[in-house]
Amino acid sequence: MKKILFLMAILCLSASMASAQQMLEKDGFVLKWETSGDKLIVTLKAETTGWIAFGIDAESIMKGANIIILWVDDKTGIAMAEDHFGSGRFAHKSDMKLGGSQDFQVLSGTQTETNTEIIFSIPLDSGDEYDKPLVRGQSYRLLLASNNSDNISWKHNNKYAQEIEIR
Ligand code: HEM
Repeated sequence: MKKILFLMAILCLSASMASAQQMLEKDGFVLKWETSGDKLIVTLKAETTGWIAFGIDAESIMKGANIIILWVDDKTGIAMAEDHFGSGRFAHKSDMKLGGSQDFQVLSGTQTETNTEIIFSIPLDSGDEYDKPLVRGQSYRLLLASNNSDNISWKHNNKYAQEIEIR
C-alpha cells in the first residue's frame, strides 16, 4: 500500500511539473512550447527549407537572447542545431566560441519542399552564462527568425518578436 501511495505521489508531482502546450502562429511561423520537468520543449515550424531560429529573453533587439539556430541539412536530411547568444543588438555568436557550452537537444526534424519543422528542448537553467535561467510564470521577449539558406551566418529574411510566458 505504501508503495502504491509513493508511486501516486511521484506521478502527481511529475504531472504538476509539466505545463499545457501553448501556441502562436504569426508571419509564417508556428511555435508551440511547454515545460516538462527541468526543460522547455519547443516545436518550431516555418515556411522555409533553410535555417529557422528561436531566441528567448532578448534585452534589446537580439542582445542578451539565448538563441538556438536549427536546420535540416539539404543533403543528409539530418536536423542540426547550434546554441548562440545575442552578443549585440544586431549580432550573435556561438556559446562555444564565447567560452560557454551547447545546451539543447534536437528531438526531431523534418523538411518538406516548403517547410521546416524541428522539435527541440533546452534546459530551463543550463548553468551556462550564455543562456539565461527561465522561470515558470515569467514572461520573456521571444525572437523567431528564418532564412532560405542553411548557411547560418546569413541574416534572416523573415523575423518576428513578441513577449511570451513560460508556464
Ligand atoms: C547574421 C545573423 C544576423 C544578423 C546580421 C541580424 C541582424 C539584425 C538586424 C540588423 C535587425 C534589426 C531589424 C532588421 O534590420 O531586420 C535584427 C532584428 C531581429 N533579429 Fe536578427 N540578425 C541575425 C540573426 C538573427 C537570429 C539567428 C535570430 C534568432 C531568432 C534573429 C532574430 C531577430 C529578431 C526577432 C529581430 C527583431 C527584434 C525586434 O523587433 O525586437 N536574428 N537582426
